[in-house]
Amino acid sequence: MYRAVTATLSFASLVLGQQIGKEVAEKHPTMPMKMCTAAGSCTTESTSVVLDSNWRWTHVTNGYANCFGGEGWNATHCADNAACAKNCAIDGANYASTYGITTPSSGALRLNFVTKNDNGQNVGSRVYLLASDTKYRTFNLLNKEFTFTVDVSKLTCGLNGAVYFSEMDADGGMSRFTGNKAGAAYGTGYCDAQCPRDIKFINGEANVAGWKDGTGGMGSCCAEMDIWEANNDATAYTPHPCNVFEQTKCTGTDCGVGDDRYKAMCDKDGCDFNSFRMGNKEFYGPGKTVDTTKPVTVITQFHTADGTDSGALSSIHRFYVQGGKVVANSVSAIPGVDAVSHISDQFCAQQKTAFGDNNYFATLGGMQAMGKSLKRMVLVLSIWDDTSVRMNWLDSVFPNDADPEKPGVARGRCDPMLGEPKTVEKDHADAYVVYSDIRFGAINSTFAAN
Ligand SMILES: *[C@@H]1O[C@H](CO)[C@@H](O)[C@H](O)[C@H]1NC(C)=O
Ligand SMILES: *[C@@H]1O[C@H](CO)[C@@H](O)[C@H](O)[C@H]1NC(C)=O
Repeated sequence: MYRAVTATLSFASLVLGQQIGKEVAEKHPTMPMKMCTAAGSCTTESTSVVLDSNWRWTHVTNGYANCFGGEGWNATHCADNAACAKNCAIDGANYASTYGITTPSSGALRLNFVTKNDNGQNVGSRVYLLASDTKYRTFNLLNKEFTFTVDVSKLTCGLNGAVYFSEMDADGGMSRFTGNKAGAAYGTGYCDAQCPRDIKFINGEANVAGWKDGTGGMGSCCAEMDIWEANNDATAYTPHPCNVFEQTKCTGTDCGVGDDRYKAMCDKDGCDFNSFRMGNKEFYGPGKTVDTTKPVTVITQFHTADGTDSGALSSIHRFYVQGGKVVANSVSAIPGVDAVSHISDQFCAQQKTAFGDNNYFATLGGMQAMGKSLKRMVLVLSIWDDTSVRMNWLDSVFPNDADPEKPGVARGRCDPMLGEPKTVEKDHADAYVVYSDIRFGAINSTFAAN
């Protein structure tokens, strides 16, 4: 919800560019998914994953010198945005040894939090689902459901194992931006509703101009549907619409930094459903109704007003399956909000009023705008910690100085300091998340709806 800086890149020596380097062969780990029909029968699709370009070694195209290092961009190779994209190459990734990304069994993906490697250590990662070696797998979520199984048992307070959709270009932006020679094969073209400015290459150019403390002069915006942002204490699912309907560069006010938050192209807050925040403190967590000490299957349904794949998005529903039983989502227990367990424009309006939040979700078009974006989404799987607000918006009291008894302020049981990156990277370096058994198809086709 408040994701600001999406990646912590701790390598002094690793960097990025937008040509293709030849020092490390890029081999995409396979992660097959299933397509299901109304009859409940599923077929396997041979999908794989690709690491985001921001995590990759970026060096000069004709050698090993870094284009970006601990001190930032190298002024010799990166005199300006266009020259830098031309002079610098992104290389292949050693998924397991450098980044701690493995596929423990067919259809499963494990992302380790901290990985010690030859360069020091890597913190967190972000991968995208590929349909082929050069194209992301795009999804039209309308009138469909998306299902996966997750093991969050080792994800402690302050961590976030996230599964979400972003409206990225299927080719990573290669055909729209001639400076981008690497494309989806190297995980380029990322965008999300926070309009992140820590992205090193945007629209085929390097983000050199204005680069300071890990962010540059440009951001990369697009609509985002958070299916799952979670650790073992708290979880939320959240639509974030934008007033643009493809990956779009922002440069000033429209990036929505600081006081411009409610002038951004995208709804940074979104309209979240977090069971704890919505008043049910016994629903999710270790030993709770959804028991986070064990794997859980998560089903998210996108209903349209007319029940067709081209209709207007009307509501987003959630079910869980654990131990062979379907568990309905918790219902809201907040005064002023109907006792519902799904997200709709009405839920968002009532929730924003009850919590005293700005309904920028509605300002940007609410469910209708979100639905327009849901027709061509790319799947993102990640693990991250939060360098700006310690993940407190997900699992603790936020804002920190607000009264926790006030509706909407408490989001989980976590101590607000536990999400401090220094602390969590030291005390829970061995944390990890496992995502498995991705299924997609008609409503109620991906699980036994008993
Ligand atoms: C920038 O690159 C040049 C040429 O590769 C190198 O000599 C110089 O040391 C680099 N600068 C920094 C600050 O790393
Ligand atoms: C889908 O499954 C859910 C959960 O079991 C159930 O409540 C709902 O009625 C089903 N919907 C349809 C259209 O069968």
